[in-house]
Amino acid sequence: MEQLPIPVKKFHDGSVYPAVGFGTYQLKGSQGVQAIRSAIDAGYRLLDTAYNYENEATVGQAIKQHGIKREELLITSKLPGRYQKYDDAVTTIQESLYRAGLDHYDLYLIHWPNPKQDNYVEAWQALQDARKWGLIRSIGVCNFLPEHLDRLKAETGEFPVLNQIELHPYFNQEKQRQYHEENGIVTQSWSPLGRKTDLLQNPILSDIAAKYGKSVSQLVLRWHYQLGSIAIPKSATPSRQQENIAIFDFELNQAEMETISGLTKTDGRVSNQDPAVYEEF
Ligand SMILES: NC(=O)c1ccc[n+]([C@@H]2O[C@H](COP(=O)([O-])OP(=O)(O)OC[C@H]3O[C@@H](n4cnc5c(N)ncnc54)[C@H](OP(=O)(O)O)[C@@H]3O)[C@@H](O)[C@H]2O)c1
Repeated sequence: MEQLPIPVKKFHDGSVYPAVGFGTYQLKGSQGVQAIRSAIDAGYRLLDTAYNYENEATVGQAIKQHGIKREELLITSKLPGRYQKYDDAVTTIQESLYRAGLDHYDLYLIHWPNPKQDNYVEAWQALQDARKWGLIRSIGVCNFLPEHLDRLKAETGEFPVLNQIELHPYFNQEKQRQYHEENGIVTQSWSPLGRKTDLLQNPILSDIAAKYGKSVSQLVLRWHYQLGSIAIPKSATPSRQQENIAIFDFELNQAEMETISGLTKTDGRVSNQDPAVYEEF
């Protein structure tokens, strides 16, 4: 089947990004390189890594071995919690680039707010400066609650282009998504397929997917797309990589969207990581 092109989303800084990207958590070493090369072959152009995944070098190696032009890709990495002090953040962004063998990241995110440490505003200022110096193009965050986002805006005058949050049918983040919409922030979904849960075996989802002749993964990724969120599914398996991107030839109706969103639970997080209290370094 011929692959339909991936639609795009525009950030408030003018950048244009594909509506689906590729997660790379746990893809490391030569097997990781193979998996990322095959994802590029499948058509993914947005690759999501992080300093803490210890695989920025794997991503860099995959790009090099693949031979695709750098400007055809959009590459995201993330600043870890232990390096949120301004000087540490600047050095870490440089180190992140050295690890990947790149001269810039397209998007760089603060990985967790770690509010008890209270360093995320200076980390944000470091990202703003790194952008000025050409090390990164767009700046965003992950796991920020509205109160953290409000503070960035109040103290630095700038909202992130995007907030990457845990989002899947068991945790639909309705209020957080609405806040993003009201403030021109794009939502990006991590663990979009609900890694570590039984989401892909859910019978309600199988029934709707069967109606369209699609897999449950495709159904869930279509739901993310229609919510307006950029999902970044991870798969080490080439056939699944292709499957996860083939979601632009069917459309869910309002009732189906609501049924899927209705699977949400207050304790639906995959690992109980509430950004108000959880800290990651
Ligand atoms: N910012 C943050 O705090 C944060 C936190 C977590 C994740 N992330 C990012 O989000 C990305 C995605 O999240 P995730 O890796 O946690 O989980 P995910 O993408 O929800 O799920 C990945 C799992 O689903 C399986 N899978 C993928 N496609 C499938 C399909 N079509 N059919 C059946 N199984 C399928 C994969 O197996 P195989 O690989 O074996 O195919 C893998 O075990 C990460 O890789 C990372 O880049 C960010």
